[in-house]
Amino acid sequence: MRHNASNLAVAPAPRETEQALPFYQPAAHEIALFEHAWRNQLPLLIKGPTGCGKTRFVSYMAQRLGRPLYTVACHDDLSAADLIGRHLIGDGATYWSDGPLTRAVREGGICYLDEVVEARKDTTVVLHPLSDDRRILPIERTGETLQAPPEFMLVVSYNPGYQNFLKSMKPSTRQRFVSLRFDFPAPAAEQEIVMAETGIDGPAAKRLVSLAQALRALREHDLEEVASTRLLVYAAKLIQGGFDPLEACRAALVEPLTDDEETAAALMEVVQTLFAR
Ligand SMILES: Nc1ncnc2c1ncn2[C@@H]1O[C@H](COP(=O)(O)OP(=O)(O)OP(=O)(O)O)[C@@H](O)[C@H]1O
Ligand SMILES: [Mg+2]
Repeated sequence: MRHNASNLAVAPAPRETEQALPFYQPAAHEIALFEHAWRNQLPLLIKGPTGCGKTRFVSYMAQRLGRPLYTVACHDDLSAADLIGRHLIGDGATYWSDGPLTRAVREGGICYLDEVVEARKDTTVVLHPLSDDRRILPIERTGETLQAPPEFMLVVSYNPGYQNFLKSMKPSTRQRFVSLRFDFPAPAAEQEIVMAETGIDGPAAKRLVSLAQALRALREHDLEEVASTRLLVYAAKLIQGGFDPLEACRAALVEPLTDDEETAAALMEVVQTLFAR
């Protein structure tokens, strides 16, 4: 379908509004790397386990650089049109509606594709001309080709832990990105995060971080993932709100990790040992 100027209207795509800089505790040189990548017009791939701060980092960087942020949670039904846009019909006219990727390109914003390995390969291929030195977004349906302004940046992330062979990224996609590996913060940094996010006191935050360390060290249990910083923040919020600490740890740090009762009991033993001190 072709559009013409007389009935063209652009429906607004959702956009994350500008707010105060969110709290972000850096781990190493990731802020500098992001800034260098942005200044050099290089796309960035962030990989790391769930709940380790990837999304927080991207929102922090978008605010810090003063760029609008468009976040897309990828899934296997996500089509190229979901990213780029589509014609919509309303009031007897056809409207072109920009998708979040197109919006970000037009505005010189940051487009963040979360869990990018979930998207079908034919969807991720639309990223190719945008993520190499051409930096163009061809919009087949309107015949337009957008040249990304210098401020535009493409950021993708995924969790390598969930990856299986079928869901890995094509090397030709992967090799278009500068890559950054995230992991759980070092204990002192994680303690700062738990305190800043919940207002819990230092000793209580320290104890929770020690607990997370102990739980993460348990290798004999066949856990898909270990306790994340996100779950530590949840536990701290429950405790800070006056909930029993042992039960808070069960609800936030044990049950989310396993459905197996024996494994949960083994994890609770670790909790009890640490909280008995
Ligand atoms: N470096 C950090 N600075 C500040 N807060 C952090 C940091 N790392 C983790 N957090 C806390 O952990 C929570 C989860 O982080 P976030 O949502 O960024 O994880 P994620 O890596 O995007 O996880 P997922 O892969 O599941 O999307 C945040 O809401 C925040 O409270
Ligand atoms: Mg995330």
